[in-house]
Amino acid sequence: MAELLEIRDLSVHFRTEDGLVHAVSHVDFDLGEGEVLGVVGESGSGKSQTWLAVMGLLAQNGYATGSVKLHGRELLGLSPSQLSHMRGVQLAMIFQDPMTALNPYLTIGRQMTEVLQWHRKMRRSDAEKRAVKALESVHISDPVSRLKSYPHEFSGGMRQRVMIAMNMLNEPEILICDEPTTALDVTVQAQILALLNELRERFGTAIVFITHDLGVIAQIAERVAVLYGGRMMEQADVYTLFEDYRHPYTEGLLRSVPRMDEDRTERLLTIPGNPPNLAMLPKGCPFSPRCAYVEARCQQQMPELEVIAPGHVRACFHSGKLGRQETGA
Ligand SMILES: Nc1ncnc2c1ncn2[C@@H]1O[C@H](COP(=O)(O)OP(=O)(O)O)[C@@H](O)[C@H]1O
Ligand SMILES: [Mg+2]
Repeated sequence: MAELLEIRDLSVHFRTEDGLVHAVSHVDFDLGEGEVLGVVGESGSGKSQTWLAVMGLLAQNGYATGSVKLHGRELLGLSPSQLSHMRGVQLAMIFQDPMTALNPYLTIGRQMTEVLQWHRKMRRSDAEKRAVKALESVHISDPVSRLKSYPHEFSGGMRQRVMIAMNMLNEPEILICDEPTTALDVTVQAQILALLNELRERFGTAIVFITHDLGVIAQIAERVAVLYGGRMMEQADVYTLFEDYRHPYTEGLLRSVPRMDEDRTERLLTIPGNPPNLAMLPKGCPFSPRCAYVEARCQQQMPELEVIAPGHVRACFHSGKLGRQETGA
């Protein structure tokens, strides 16, 4: 399959007072047209920084190395104006809190039409029609009068819909969603996930869905990448990841998700310990200090990613079975 986006050996570093922080180390991703890729990991695992690097939106003290190709064209190192054009038209990103991206002092209509007037050189009246259509496509009722509303006049879920509508205005090829449902209650979250699925079917948009929640991954992703300490731990199609995972960290994440098909009195297990300090990563596998299957070499050497089945990779030395019951408290 011709890849839409090809990420190779991507690393993200930040210059800090404590030295270089390696937020992302040597990750590879492929994204095909219309595909939904889930990216999962605990807080601080490098999920956001990976995709901010792709967007060219890293903080001032950060820089990326490696390669990010969109339709074969290298994005790392593009000029700010080239990047900003590409962001409007090919790539879009939405965040957990839409208020950070919306201007509180401008109506939704003004903010939406400006995007079109700027990127598409549309006339105001045409832009308004297009904005109304976009609000309709995310199921906002009475869109004509809603254009006159300010961001604070919408509920959290509605604001996220507006954000999605705004980002879909240019029909980007890739929509990166960074924990867009994390702040929403479960019913609203389900509606947003359904909406994203619908948009993807309608427009063929590829979606990168970043979350710390495997329950959400199960509802939307086709393929899943598991990150830890800025490294790729495992990647597989969603069924394989849930049913035949091969990485102790994936196992740990799965054990902390409630399952309705199991005895509900069974205790949910959390992964013992804390995510690593990225300024002082251990020498070997970053997960080794917390891993139930740790071996001596895990603390010396980072295992290479190996292909264990078509489309299924993992980085782990452990060769025996998983499923060892942790002792836990
Ligand atoms: N501007 C910055 N300066 C220094 N370190 C940063 C900066 N932004 C992010 N980081 C580091 O990158 C790590 C990974 O961040 P991030 O990708 O946002 O994690 P998450 O998986 O929760 O999205 C953070 O834990 C932090 O250590
Ligand atoms: Mg994040």
